[in-house]
Amino acid sequence: MSDDTNVTNGTEQHPTESVWMSTTDRTSYPPLDGDREVDVAVVGGGITGLTAATKLSEEGKDVAVVESGRIVEGVTGKTTAKLTLQHGLIYDHLRSEFGDTLARQYADANQDAIETVRDRVERYDIDCDFDRTPAYTYTESAEKRSDIADEVEAARALDIPAEFVEETPLPFDVEAAIRVDDQARFHPRKYLLALAEAVEDAGNDVFERTKATDVESGDGNRVVTERGTLTADAVVVATHFPLLDHRLFFSRLYPHRSYVVTIRTDDAPSEGMYYRAEEPGRSLRTKVAGEDDLLIVGGEGHKTGQGDEKERYRRLERYAGEQFEVESMPYRWSTQDFSTPDKVPFVGRLGPTTDGIYVGTGYGGWGMTNGTAAGELLADLALGRSNPYESVFDPTRLSKSSAGKALKENTEVAKEFVGGWAKSLFGSDTVTPPAGESRIVRHDGKPYGLYRDEDGELHAVSAVCTHMDCIVDWNDAEKSWDCPCHGSRFGVDGSVIDGPAVEDLPRPGSDD
Ligand SMILES: Cc1cc2nc3c(=O)[nH]c(=O)nc-3n(C[C@H](O)[C@H](O)[C@H](O)COP(=O)(O)OP(=O)(O)OC[C@H]3O[C@@H](n4cnc5c(N)ncnc54)[C@H](O)[C@@H]3O)c2cc1C
Ligand code: FES
Repeated sequence: MSDDTNVTNGTEQHPTESVWMSTTDRTSYPPLDGDREVDVAVVGGGITGLTAATKLSEEGKDVAVVESGRIVEGVTGKTTAKLTLQHGLIYDHLRSEFGDTLARQYADANQDAIETVRDRVERYDIDCDFDRTPAYTYTESAEKRSDIADEVEAARALDIPAEFVEETPLPFDVEAAIRVDDQARFHPRKYLLALAEAVEDAGNDVFERTKATDVESGDGNRVVTERGTLTADAVVVATHFPLLDHRLFFSRLYPHRSYVVTIRTDDAPSEGMYYRAEEPGRSLRTKVAGEDDLLIVGGEGHKTGQGDEKERYRRLERYAGEQFEVESMPYRWSTQDFSTPDKVPFVGRLGPTTDGIYVGTGYGGWGMTNGTAAGELLADLALGRSNPYESVFDPTRLSKSSAGKALKENTEVAKEFVGGWAKSLFGSDTVTPPAGESRIVRHDGKPYGLYRDEDGELHAVSAVCTHMDCIVDWNDAEKSWDCPCHGSRFGVDGSVIDGPAVEDLPRPGSDD
């Protein structure tokens, strides 16, 4: 094992694979083979797509799910799997941003999502470590105490049964916390792999290794893939970043990457899920994969492409060691989610001219419940039904903070664009990196990303992001080229890992 995968603890391995992936079998659904007609095509096999596909299958619809890789290996396979309506300090913000009616809709949508998961766990008898536990948002800062009090007041005004507390089961003191009971935790892959089986049992299909390259609207919508075309009355686009960007989502979705380590410790609190209100953010979750002594410690988030990724893991591991008696750190991983300017997801119709095409995105780190709510809503829209949460999630809304936040974010993107190009133009055109390192270099006036792997092989790709031409940055922890502008990520060979980019980074000598 290389040094990269074992940064602190010499006694136990740290595969950069999530505990959820490590404790479940890989799937092997076949690819789509030729053209098909279905009632509804679902693109993307994460929590959004599989929830929608399950509901549509329960309603007797003819459904096909197409997944570019393997199902539940995207963000959903790397989450921390808290099911809660308590999303940090959110309700005070939502009340002033949207008013009480929509703020209550947001809370209800998320609490309903927990009950939807529970209902399906019971209906399909899924062994996925689902259990009820309280959620806490806590502060260790005296100055933040009043924010917690305000949040409790806002939550209670929306009929959320929130409590102001000064003690939690954590092994360290907190200044104050908001506690909400009857929230839940689960094993997301065990749950969703069972839903995929339920989709199949209903006579429907899941196709893996089937990348959608386009969604065409018209009389009979079409999902064009590398393996054939699905013609469908309705299409659910559940690709995390929307495959089609009719609403210019890239300017309203901000990528945020964060990190997770798991620790084995006798100090793990017997119950609860915890979220720290101030920076640096911390996310703690007990009873991971059903094990009492396994605790998730998450945090160290940053905008994608703008962080020292290896150092983030080190800081998280240091923090875990300071707060808990750590026996070992068996797993670590990282992933990213998109946020919207007003902190509420975009779920609904893709665009005014795309009848029957629906999208869910922008869960802001809370897609276990938001993604479940989105899957239900998107299925309702595909069924031609209304859904009680359409208004709050409406992708066309213009809320108070949208314009200001979008302007600020897009100014930062412009800075990244200019800064990245300036750096690349002054980059060396001769030096190649030693083993395990990367460089941005200039060749024939164009910027290239070079990475030399541990075996000494040199990998070269264009350093110009295929989305909108920003210069990508090397992510040393994940071995990927990450774009600081809108969060696209590419493998060492240039292949797209995360959108909005859909085209790979060209290699030198290719025609592009
Ligand atoms: C570190 C971290 C911790 C988190 N913890 C929590 C938590 O505790 N609780 C919570 O509520 N939320 C949490 N979240 C957020 C949550 O995990 C995500 O919001 C959610 O998993 C997103 O689900 P999704 O279905 O949109 O995306 P994904 O799970 O990424 O699914 C999208 C799928 O679409 C596929 N796809 C993409 N493009 C194509 C294409 N062209 N053709 C076919 N398929 C395609 C992808 O391969 C992928 O499988 C966390 C997020 C992070 C970053
Ligand atoms: S993700 Fe938009 S320019 Fe790279």
